[in-house]
Amino acid sequence: MARKIAIVGGTGPEGCGLANRLARAGEHIVIGSRDALRAEEAAKRLREHIGEAAQIEGADNASAVGQCDIALLTVPFSGQAALLKQLKSAWKPGTVVIDTTVPLAASIGGAPTRTIGVWQGSAAEAARELLPNGVGFAAAFHHLSAELLAGDARVDCDVLVCSDDEQSKQVASELAQKIPGVRALNGGKLENARIVESVTALLIGLNIRYKVHSAGVRFTGLPL
Ligand SMILES: NC(=O)c1ccc[n+]([C@@H]2O[C@H](COP(=O)([O-])OP(=O)(O)OC[C@H]3O[C@@H](n4cnc5c(N)ncnc54)[C@H](OP(=O)(O)O)[C@@H]3O)[C@@H](O)[C@H]2O)c1
Repeated sequence: MARKIAIVGGTGPEGCGLANRLARAGEHIVIGSRDALRAEEAAKRLREHIGEAAQIEGADNASAVGQCDIALLTVPFSGQAALLKQLKSAWKPGTVVIDTTVPLAASIGGAPTRTIGVWQGSAAEAARELLPNGVGFAAAFHHLSAELLAGDARVDCDVLVCSDDEQSKQVASELAQKIPGVRALNGGKLENARIVESVTALLIGLNIRYKVHSAGVRFTGLPL
């Protein structure tokens, strides 16, 4: 059976953007939401946008992750812990969970150009603690803005993939490379997610100062 990818909180701009790109690449997507109807509406909008051949459906978050082999987390940091506690028994063993969360101060009423301190070091490490041992985990996609993901134009950005688990790193890298223009880079251990997440706050500041929505990152001097 073909694999399915759940997007937890996929009704928001980042989740919809990733769904758009991955469905265009032929992946079967299940948009997740706290409200199944909202997820189905988002899936319908995306199918209308991409074309009816796109394989996108909607479900509540628990049903979405329970039927998928890969799950992308795209909820605000403020809601991440409570949601992961609710979903604790919903994961299939072997699921690869990929976290996109940036612990922006904006998620608790602060500035979008700052991150908040997280005891574990990063939103990703905090999420990892709340997942069962039997699932794989990687952090990726933090530097791809929702605006860039919404269309079908090439995206001028590298994606840093951080994980302590090679298979999850591989899965996340392979998905990132399905987005035209994106290059996936091995970002090292999961603890490096703290650096990657904080760069997003810097990109948001650049977007504000230069009045764009397209600031991204490219690393030079690498043999790929
Ligand atoms: N926006 C970007 O350009 C961007 C770029 C890189 C990374 N990210 C990261 O991606 C994540 C999503 O960003 P976004 O802009 O799409 O966020 P968002 O619109 O604020 O939230 C996304 C979805 O999360 C769900 N949600 C909201 N509050 C929740 C809560 N307390 N508990 C559980 N679910 C909740 C909502 O879905 P339902 O109401 O349908 O459940 C919402 O549609 C964030 O962690 C962000 O840091 C965003």
